[in-house]
Amino acid sequence: MDLFFLVLILLNIIQIDGSLESCRQTFGSHKYDLNQLSDLTILGTGGLFRYALTPCGLVPTNTCGKNTLPFERGMTSCQERIATATFEASMGFLDGYGKSPNLQFSENPQGPGTGIIMNISNALCNGGPRLVKITFICDKNIKKPTTMSVSENPACQFTVTIKAAEACPLTKDLTGGAIFIIILFVLVIVYVVSGVLYNRFKRKETGLALLPHVSFWLHLGELSLHGCKFTWNCIRRCSWQTSTPSTAYESV
Ligand SMILES: *[C@@H]1O[C@H](CO)[C@@H](O)[C@H](O)[C@H]1NC(C)=O
Repeated sequence: MDLFFLVLILLNIIQIDGSLESCRQTFGSHKYDLNQLSDLTILGTGGLFRYALTPCGLVPTNTCGKNTLPFERGMTSCQERIATATFEASMGFLDGYGKSPNLQFSENPQGPGTGIIMNISNALCNGGPRLVKITFICDKNIKKPTTMSVSENPACQFTVTIKAAEACPLTKDLTGGAIFIIILFVLVIVYVVSGVLYNRFKRKETGLALLPHVSFWLHLGELSLHGCKFTWNCIRRCSWQTSTPSTAYESV
């Protein structure tokens, strides 16, 4: 039971993000992860319009201008008319919200490792397709970018450029969570091995007593077991309370 909870906690540390798989791209030996930008709102202006974009995430609708209709779900970028501060159009939608095609990626043609291009073409423009080509250029000096350049030429074809350190190829394969677990694992092994050696050769112990601080850990195990039982009982009591009326109705 304790092991089960431990595994659950470890899984949570490793896979804590709800990130978009398609925003992780590999070109040759270069891996990119645009999910690193998914908590940002990047703004730009062009002509009569202001644009907001949250790469690989949902753009906050309060950056899109006033809208009389409800916003469509899944919007990653939007266009606002500056003069009236009103919502003009969706620029594109994330994968998984019923729009097609999905996001399309290629590497920045300037060369390997220089950045990544994201094409979005699942929103409408004057009843026809709206093409949005976003070039993310690797620039180590610009962390968490806030601005982008946007131009529309010809009509309904948008060219967006964003310089960002997050658009640089990843240098490490391990996430922070994985490194944490590896360090924890190594420390536990060192602790157990050195404890056993100490107990065996210094204190001349045998059997279960070889384990370091064995009585403390047994006690802790007992306590957490009590904790789990208590929580479980509490949950059962609560659900019983809420389900009592419905069983009463059924018996009528
Ligand atoms: C992105 O769009 C541009 C122009 O609209 C096009 O030339 C390019 O092939 C597209 N790239 C991908 C990966 O779809």
